[in-house]
Amino acid sequence: MSATSVIGLQWGDEAKGKVVDIFTSKNDIVVRYQGGANAGHTIVADGKKYKLSLVPSGIFRHNVQSVIASGVVIDPESLLGEINTLRNQGVAIDTNLLISDRSHLIFPWHKEKDRLLNALAGQESIGTTMRGIGPCYSDKYGRSLAVRLGDMFRPNAKERLREIAKANADYLAKADSDKSYEELTSESLLATYLDYAEQLKPFVTDTTAYLLDAVEAGKNLLFEGAQGALLDIDHGTFPYVTSSNSSGVGVSSGSGVPACYITKVVGILKAYTTRVGGGPFPTEQDNETGQKIRDRGNEYGTVTKRPRRCGWFDAVAARYTARLSGVSSLAVMLLDVLSTFDELKICTAYEINGQRTANFPSHVDDLRAVKPIYETHPGWQDDVTGARNFGDLPRNAQNYLNRISEIVSRSIGLVSVGPDREQTININL
Ligand code: GDP
Ligand code: IMO
Ligand code: MG
Repeated sequence: MSATSVIGLQWGDEAKGKVVDIFTSKNDIVVRYQGGANAGHTIVADGKKYKLSLVPSGIFRHNVQSVIASGVVIDPESLLGEINTLRNQGVAIDTNLLISDRSHLIFPWHKEKDRLLNALAGQESIGTTMRGIGPCYSDKYGRSLAVRLGDMFRPNAKERLREIAKANADYLAKADSDKSYEELTSESLLATYLDYAEQLKPFVTDTTAYLLDAVEAGKNLLFEGAQGALLDIDHGTFPYVTSSNSSGVGVSSGSGVPACYITKVVGILKAYTTRVGGGPFPTEQDNETGQKIRDRGNEYGTVTKRPRRCGWFDAVAARYTARLSGVSSLAVMLLDVLSTFDELKICTAYEINGQRTANFPSHVDDLRAVKPIYETHPGWQDDVTGARNFGDLPRNAQNYLNRISEIVSRSIGLVSVGPDREQTININL
């Protein structure tokens, strides 16, 4: 039995989907356990591109079970869209997907609240994906107006949904008198959501029991993190975070599989840093360098298409999140994007109000005050997309990677030199 988790160590979009897809072939079950349709995971196989939001990135391997576990918040419309697309592509989704009856559902009122709260926050706006993630998790933790997938199959589902819709429409109407929220209480909307639940019913089960049976039976599990550790609600750059535990600490709470079963944690890093949405970003390059990274890496959001903010590799942040997530080895992705730079910088320490530190600050104001201390490394001009062994890489690229490994204090098990499955250097998976 082994259980491996794949965790993003930056602010998301580290190419976790690619790594999960590669690791899936060695596992029996792949599990998404937190986040929702705010995630956009891309897999490129044989030149074809697939984008997933809620369905685990293991779905493309026929003999592997995919599980959406209890900690995920599900937008049923979005999930059904994804399921239908995959079905049309000939993917064995009907036999290979399970969804937790404990997962919480996202309704239109969650998206309305997301929009409203982002607008009210003005300058402090988080810049969410507007997928209703925060409001749905708020209801979950608030406990009173929350709906879990399993609730939709109870005899009182329609009446309960009607009351919850009314309470939300009243709340929104009071908060925002400019707009009518009557539509939220319409019978046709209720019927649509009950129908969505019926369509999902064949996939729904108690995934906690299923996963506990699986680990006890010696199956190999792969946990697919969404977002990145710096977006973790408790340990990230609060309040500019998402609403779940997106660092390694979230695996157990979201899946129901105790931490003692997790044997390996792979930390995913881009060879540089990106962020979408608001919040401080110490190594951001809001200049030609950032634009060059964005152009070469096609750094536009998978979900919202927003340009991603780009900057140098931040080893202070990566060291923090590797420790926080209990990372055993690193996967360094998108190395090819850094070809043709004359020089590359790695942030090795922060200076905060005149004090130098190698520790990641806990308060957003301190993060805002950071002056990054950089080390400069010579770049390389060669195209690295054809490299399949570490030794194929230019010497300067090898040195750059070795330095990242040294500062983050973890070995590098995989290097990615292009989006395709094949464009991978397997050092020690
Ligand atoms: P995720 O959310 O962590 O799964 O990452 P995304 O899919 O949102 O973003 C990563 C992007 O980088 C996707 O478009 C991938 O196809 C692409 N990608 C993955 N690995 C590489 C790589 O090594 N080089 C390049 N150029 N692109 C890559
Ligand atoms: P994957 O899994 C990058 C960001 C949003 C915003 C903040 C809060 O593809 O790596 P939310 O909608 O979650 O309330 O938004 O988090 N964010 C992501 N950024 N990748 C993601 O997922 C993200 N999911 C959320 O841009 O700043
Ligand atoms: Mg993404």
